[in-house]
Parts: sequence; structure tokens; C-alpha cells
Amino acid sequence: MIDELKKEIERVRQSFLNEIVQIQSPEKLAALKERYLSRKKGVVSQLIAKLREFAPAEKPAAGQLINQFKATIEAELASGEESVGARTGAASPWCDFSLPASDFPVGRFHLIAEIQRQIEDLFLHLGYEIAIGPEVELEDYNFTKLNIPEFHPVRDEQDTFFLDGFDDMVLRTHTSPMQVRYMLAHQPPLKIISPGKAFRKDDPDATHSPCFHQVEGLLVDRGIHFSHLKGTLEIFCRSFFGPEVKLRFRPGYFPFTEPSAEVDISCFLCSGRQSHKGDGGLAAPQPDCKVCKGSGWLEILGSGMVHPQVLRNCGIDPEIYSGFAFGMGIERVSMIKFGVPDLRLLYENDLRLLGQFG
Ligand code: PHE
Repeated sequence: MIDELKKEIERVRQSFLNEIVQIQSPEKLAALKERYLSRKKGVVSQLIAKLREFAPAEKPAAGQLINQFKATIEAELASGEESVGARTGAASPWCDFSLPASDFPVGRFHLIAEIQRQIEDLFLHLGYEIAIGPEVELEDYNFTKLNIPEFHPVRDEQDTFFLDGFDDMVLRTHTSPMQVRYMLAHQPPLKIISPGKAFRKDDPDATHSPCFHQVEGLLVDRGIHFSHLKGTLEIFCRSFFGPEVKLRFRPGYFPFTEPSAEVDISCFLCSGRQSHKGDGGLAAPQPDCKVCKGSGWLEILGSGMVHPQVLRNCGIDPEIYSGFAFGMGIERVSMIKFGVPDLRLLYENDLRLLGQFG
């Protein structure tokens, strides 16, 4: 009995396979399915009906054969539906090409990471190395060696996070202690940038966050002077913000640089462009400009020549070597470049916002 069943199944299987390969339309495929799988008169149902004729001992084996056969037919029909659907296009009930594609989100870097990478890339092209420093820093490196004496207001507890039980450590308030670390470990020539997080006890608002990101730059060699700093920052800003951008150096104060300068770029929205007079000057700023508030300039970084005392504190002879340093806020630069109005938006991680950049 079993052998007969096997033969019959094989015969039916062959004729099914012969038929299915020739099918060209969904309707014909549906008819084939009906003929083989319909509950009442389907070929498979008829085979199942025959089970009654088997001796009880043979029934399980026979049932198994029929079930396997049914599974084969179902699988063939399913793949037949796919291929017929593909051949007959949108008209097919199985494959509607007019349906909107299902969402397939592709990952990307967060805006802050992306900007950090762009800055790194530019300085790597200028021959700088990337040096990464710790976020928990010795107070000595964060302040003292950077020529920030104990009575200096930036040491005020208002600004600095101290660590319970560790008198000599702080969460670094800027990336500048990496200057110290690098100079203590290397003799000039030195040429590094150091990106990373910094921390200050600020209440979050549109332009402040207790944790933020900076990129520090440091170059020390023989005969380095202010024009090297100026040229470097000009190349950086023009590559990063656009070739028409103008720079403005304002006198500033940082205990670890002398002289120090705050650097502004011309407002890209209202006065970044050349004036129409053809005299090479800048267009007049717009008094109601959203970005620069009418001043025509945007502050982007602090910089200066490394203070001789800082070089000395780090074992470098200021009679032989000089250098420059700069530090910029990554959030600030991102906000300027992409017109993000509120720094907190960068931390809320709303993909609808973050997906708009880059
Ligand atoms: N560390 C300074 C700040 O956080 C920036 C700076 C870096 C200024 C290097 C000069 C030189 O504001």
C-alpha cells in the first residue's frame, strides 16, 4: 500500500511541477492552487481521504508522506506567486509596486560627531595629529600648569565640577589641559588637535550646557609667531565655513596665552558676501539678522600664543620655542554652520531634527 501511495504521490508531484512552470498569470496560479489544495475536492484532500484504506500500522507513515507532499506543493505555490507577481508587475495582487517603500532607516553620525570629524579631517590634512585626553583631569593640568592661579575666577566652584573624595581632580572645564599633557610627554615640534567633552556648572539654556564639546589646537616649534596662528585659522575657517568668510581677531584674555585673541567670522547669512561696490569689502550687515543680531560677526573661538610660563611649566624652553593654541566649541560651530537656534536641540536626539543635517 505504502509503495503504491509513494508512486501516486510522485506522479501527482511531477504533473504539478510540469503545470506550475508554465503558468503566466496570477489567475491560472490561483486555479492551480484551488485544484491541489482545496479542502473538498483538492488533490491533496483526496490523498488524505485515502488514508482510511490503510491498515492502522501503516497510517502514520502514509500520513507523513502526504503531509510532506502538501508542504512541497505549498512552497512551490508560494514561490510561484512571487515569480508570477514579478513577471506581471503592478497588476499582480501579490506584488504591488505602487505601494510606498517600507521605511529603511540608515544610521548616521550625530551632528556633533559629524562636525568633530570634519574638523579633524581638515587638521589632519594640515599635518596635525589627534590626541585624546581624559575627561576627569588633574586640577594641576586643568588650571595651575595653564597659568591659572588659585585665586582666578574661573576656578570658582560655580564653574567647576569637583569630585567627592578626590581633592586634586576635576571634570575638565576645557580641552586645554591636553596641551599640558602633550607638552609634558613630547618635545617640539608639536602639532596636535584634541577633541572631546568638557564640563561646566552651567544651567542649560539656548547656548549653555553642563557638558559640551571642544576642539583644542596646539602647535609649538621654533620661530612660531602670530601670523602662523592667523594663517592656520584662516585656512580652517575658509575650508569649513566657505571661501568668502572673513575673520576678525579681537584682543582677548586667557591666562595661558599671551597675546590672546577671540576670533569672529563674518556672518554667513547677512555679511559673509562681498559688497556690491566691487571694492573687496563686505556687504553691510542687516540690522535684523537672526544669526548675528546685526553685528555682522559671529564669535567662534579663543586663541593666542602659548604663554611662556605654560611652556616652562611643561618643560619646554620659551627662549627656543614658541607656539600657538586655540579652542573652539563644537556645538557653537555646528549651530552656526547649520543654523541650529538652540543648543538643547542637539541633545534631545529627535531623529527628525538630526536627520536634516549632514
Ligand atoms: N580653553 C579656552 C576656553 O575654553 C579656549 C582657548 C584655548 C583659548 C586655547 C586660547 C587657547 O574658553
